[in-house]
Amino acid sequence: MALVVIDRDDDAAFDRWFDVFDRSTKEKLHQRAGWRPSEWRARSNPNDAVIYWLLLADDQDPEPGVVAALEVVAREAMTTTRAEFHVDPRRRRQGLGSVAMAQLEAHARERGFRQLVVFAEEASEEHGAHHDFAAKAGFVVGDVQVRRDLVMPRPPGQLQTLWDQWLIFAADYEIVTFLGQTPANRLDERARLGEQIVADIPHSDLEVDEEHWDAATVRHRESNVVEMGRRLFLSYARHIATDTFVAFSELTVSEEIPDFAYQWDTMVARGHRGHRLGGLMKVANLRALEASGLATRQVSTFNSATNVNMIAVNDALGCVVTERRFLWRKNL
Ligand SMILES: CC(C)(COP(=O)(O)OP(=O)(O)OC[C@H]1O[C@@H](n2cnc3c(N)ncnc32)[C@H](O)[C@@H]1OP(=O)(O)O)[C@@H](O)C(=O)NCCC(=O)NCCS
Repeated sequence: MALVVIDRDDDAAFDRWFDVFDRSTKEKLHQRAGWRPSEWRARSNPNDAVIYWLLLADDQDPEPGVVAALEVVAREAMTTTRAEFHVDPRRRRQGLGSVAMAQLEAHARERGFRQLVVFAEEASEEHGAHHDFAAKAGFVVGDVQVRRDLVMPRPPGQLQTLWDQWLIFAADYEIVTFLGQTPANRLDERARLGEQIVADIPHSDLEVDEEHWDAATVRHRESNVVEMGRRLFLSYARHIATDTFVAFSELTVSEEIPDFAYQWDTMVARGHRGHRLGGLMKVANLRALEASGLATRQVSTFNSATNVNMIAVNDALGCVVTERRFLWRKNL
């Protein structure tokens, strides 16, 4: 059995890849939308800044038992790579996963990575197969992210009340919201924030690489969201005295399945924290989502269990814990 990289434009191979991925993830979705085929095609676009290689066991086999996706950041040398790894539910406990994982590690090593991080999701009360599998394959827990859900629309008046409470702390700032694109004159400021968030997101036990962003990185990411078929709500905090964007928050919704939205990154630059900007930007995005007319009934967000500040904001908004995501890591 060989785990080989497939071409996202090879429809037959892509469909085989997606079928297995979908069967494996569906059983773990716990009331949210999974990735759509268009989204995985976008995530593996070879022209983008962040690319996932799609890997398939025996690409000629009409029923491949294993699929994986390995993040390969094209723009610079990285030491850590992230991956998805799934054995078809119909083919589990036959040793396939062990053989394929060794091959995934070999792909990562060949590419020069020193650390592999594999995601696994489970409802809070479960103890999934990945615990025993990952331990046997030499992985340790690098981080545990907790999923929280917010029911939409929010109760009447709730967002306004939070906005009024938090705005008192943010007199030096203005919150501005955009759909889909950062204004051209703010791309460099957004790039600086993008670099910082990578270094500043708390993890319990993970090495993270520095990233170098520029205006083109930001535009690549935004066009990638469009290619995915998702709508992007973008709020920023502008520091009035210096006329600088010092914080951002992103929320996205699939046009195909608007019922379930996702909170993506939120970041306040060092030196501007403690002004409730994270909460205010989230409120601004939620209001924009409500005003969009999309039939969204839930917003999900994932945070490291160690990220106490972001979790406090999410709790204040009314989020409820539903699931955990394990980040298994292995030094290669
Ligand atoms: C975790 C997963 C990849 C295992 O794949 P698999 O092909 O069934 O694994 P293998 O048959 O190679 O099992 C290797 C070892 O893992 C452990 N293991 C695998 N499934 C297990 C289960 N259901 N219960 C307990 N131990 C299990 C065992 O130690 C097993 O060795 P053994 O069969 O000699 O006892 C598969 O269940 C899966 O795709 N899960 C959903 C996606 C996921 O969690 N991915 C992240 C993996 S880190």
